[in-house]
Amino acid sequence: MIEIENLSKDFSGFKAVDNISFSVSPGEVLGFLGPNGAGKSTTMKMLSGFITPTSGRIRVMGKSVIRRPVATKQHIGYLPEGAPLYVDMTPPDFLNFVARMRGVAAASRKSSIERVIHQLHLESVAHKRIDELSKGFKRRVGIAQAILHDPDVLVLDEPTDGLDPNQKHEVRKLIRNLSADKIVILSTHILEEVTAVCNRALVIANGRLLADDTPHGLQRRSRFDQALTLELGSGVDSAACTRALKNLDTVAEVEATTTESNLRVTVFPVDALTDKSVMQHQVLQLAKASEWPVVSSRVEAGRLEDVFRDITGGSHV
Ligand SMILES: Nc1ncnc2c1ncn2[C@@H]1O[C@H](COP(=O)(O)OP(=O)(O)OP(=O)(O)O)[C@@H](O)[C@H]1O
Ligand SMILES: [Mg+2]
Repeated sequence: MIEIENLSKDFSGFKAVDNISFSVSPGEVLGFLGPNGAGKSTTMKMLSGFITPTSGRIRVMGKSVIRRPVATKQHIGYLPEGAPLYVDMTPPDFLNFVARMRGVAAASRKSSIERVIHQLHLESVAHKRIDELSKGFKRRVGIAQAILHDPDVLVLDEPTDGLDPNQKHEVRKLIRNLSADKIVILSTHILEEVTAVCNRALVIANGRLLADDTPHGLQRRSRFDQALTLELGSGVDSAACTRALKNLDTVAEVEATTTESNLRVTVFPVDALTDKSVMQHQVLQLAKASEWPVVSSRVEAGRLEDVFRDITGGSHV
């Protein structure tokens, strides 16, 4: 369990984190989303006891991070932003050092190190110094040290940043597997990562918590959610088609574009409509009755990018 209450951090009067409250339960994979400078890393640093809050309370497994720093750190695995490491060591030496610092029992140290080397596919670079490794491998060593002591809480600041597509996929799979009996909190700038691994998303901007929802819940806030796109063959008059569609009481808006010989129309449902398939059905009926040559039809998914921009007031991810 993690409980964060009225958490704030000021840097010389500048509020990097501004009165944030939330709690997280085991099994939750919580994604922090927010533009650069939103306060994601600062929140994660406070949560893992790396910096002290200006005000507010953080409890991990019932213990205060501020009053019981050592006891709470035992529950937490932390991958800092950029994965800082001791670069003159090899990955196994570094992991052995971390295991000792973490107080992993001597009897299980070797097997713990072997487990994480295997999980992060570090075998091929085990003989190299960390400063000789590529960015992606360095990050994998960073993730390995975060999970070495099998913590209850994993705090991962941009875990897949700089990884190749195969490794992104592998690390997301690893996070999903680890989340069965852990709390995972990660930050990311990749919106599809939130849908792929998180079951909850917090949107943060200017140090404030602006949304706390499931990825699907966020997607549903997009105007594209359940909109219907029709590709119509030649001979359909764009203006007349748009007018007819707009006349339907379930339709809020219509966007039409001409592509080569076809006409593409996207039809947006009115907000008040609880079952958006009613609109989709009406539109297809109208197309049939009007004898429009429907080449294809597609139900749109909500676009997280638009939702993110709306919530954060136009900032990029
Ligand atoms: N040690 C510090 N001293 C002064 N200001 C700081 C310090 N650390 C962070 N800040 C400021 O606090 C704000 C939040 O920074 P933070 O690193 O938490 O953002 P972030 O959401 O992680 O952004 P990014 O997506 O770029 O990683 C920024 O304006 C940053 O400049
Ligand atoms: Mg950051």
